[in-house]
This record gives sequence, C-alpha cells and structure tokens, in this order.
Amino acid sequence: MIDIASTDRVFVLTGAGVSAESGLPTFRGEGGIWRERRAEEIATPGAWKRDPRFVWEFYSMRRRKALEVKPNPGHAALAALEGEIGDRLFLCTQNVDNLHEQAGSREVVHLHGELLKSRCESCERPPFSDAQTYEPSAPLPRCDCGALIRPHICWFGEVPFHLDRIFRALGACTVFVAVGTSGVVEPAASFAAHARSGARARTYYVGPEEPANRSSFDELFLKKSGDVLPGLFTVHS
Ligand code: OAD
Repeated sequence: MIDIASTDRVFVLTGAGVSAESGLPTFRGEGGIWRERRAEEIATPGAWKRDPRFVWEFYSMRRRKALEVKPNPGHAALAALEGEIGDRLFLCTQNVDNLHEQAGSREVVHLHGELLKSRCESCERPPFSDAQTYEPSAPLPRCDCGALIRPHICWFGEVPFHLDRIFRALGACTVFVAVGTSGVVEPAASFAAHARSGARARTYYVGPEEPANRSSFDELFLKKSGDVLPGLFTVHS
C-alpha cells in the first residue's frame, strides 16, 4: 500500500509490462518484440535510411495490434488516481500505445513517442494523428515538402521527447512508482535514482520480476500490475 498525503506529488513511470495484460507483447520477456527481431534492424535511424518500407511494415503490424486491444485494470487504476489527485500526478510512459488515454488518463507524457502519430522526417510540420497501415506493395507516405512521413517514435540513438518537463517533475516528486519496466533502457532506467537523490522521493516498483535497477527502489510489489495497481494507493485529503 502507498499512502498519498495531500502534499505529495506522484511520478508514475510505466513500461511495456502495464500493457501486457491487455495482450501487447513486452520487448525483452518471453515472446518479446526484441527476442524475435533485432532492434538495430528496425528501430534506429540507420534502419529507416536503409529500408523505410521494412520499418513501416513493422510499425503497421504494431498499429494493427494496438488498435485491437483494450486497457486493463492497471491502466484504469492510474486514470482513477489522476481523478483523485489531479495534476499532483505526473504520468510518464515509455509505451507508444494509447491504452492510458483509452482508460481515461488525460495527461500522459509519452517519452518514446506515439504509435498512432506520424511526422515528416524532414520539415517542421508537427506530429499528427495517423492510424494508416502499409501493405508491402503500397507506396510510402510523403509530406507536402516531398520528404517521407515516418512513425512518431523515438528510435535508439535519438533523443526522447519531453525531457525538460520530465526532469522538472522528477525534481518535484515525493513518490516515484515504476510499473512494468525492466530498468535497462536509459534515460528512464535512471529516473528512480534521480527522484530519490534529488527530491528524496519514496520509490516503488510494480511488476512480476525484479528490474535491473532494483537497488533504486525502497519497496517492490512483485506481481502483475493489473492485480496490484487497483488497490495500491490510499489518498489522504
Ligand atoms: P521490457 O520488455 O524491457 O520490460 C517489460 C517488463 O514488464 C519486464 O520487467 C516484465 O517483468 C514486466 N511485466 C511483464 N508482465 C507484466 C505485468 N502483467 N505487469 C507488470 N509488469 C509486467 O519493456 P520496457 O522496460 O518498457 O523503447 O522497455 C523499455 C523500452 O525498450 C521500450 O519503451 C522500447 C524498448 O526498446 C523503444 O522502442 C524506444
């Protein structure tokens, strides 16, 4: 149980594990996305340059899958927490699906981008909503400027989104909770240590296995997030 006082500010970081019970695969576990394919062949600027069609086929497959799934009780519990404490919750996800939003979360900061958005690879046109999928023979999408349209995803070697806001929130939080993330991908893997050293936040982990950054947490709840999150927070007014 995590007690939330009226003065607490809560930072929640979610990873692929929070969407696992909805039917989306994680990256590194059994049946994980990077167990079946090499990330360097798909999720890097180099892969895009070499073979944009192959990259679009991969993200088209993930878009199709993401459009089929529904939020689970873990997502719902985080939306309910926002309902209770409002902007004292900062919800940051490494996930590119929109299951937090589908569950009713209004403010979700997507560190690694969004699967259902695209952007121009070249010009300043802002990212836009896009659920289009591409069959192997379909022409690839192009911007009015002539350059290719790419998925709005942070690939390995690129700078994650919203880092200024995220580090401000980490500096201000008094409670930090990581959910369903293996703790190996930076910078997210260091967020718990940052919250603990700077803001002296209490730090918690939720997920069935110990994460690689286990030493950054004061307490671990080693169960599925759909089982733990619905009863985890007690909000005091
Ligand atoms: P990982 O696949 O590395 O880790 C998923 C974690 O979820 C593991 O620690 C599992 O134990 C845990 N898990 C599995 N089922 C769960 C459940 N029902 N409830 C709670 N936890 C569960 O995924 P991430 O840590 O999210 O980046 O991966 C981080 C980043 O690496 C991703 O955002 C992605 C990937 O490459 C990019 O694509 C840029």
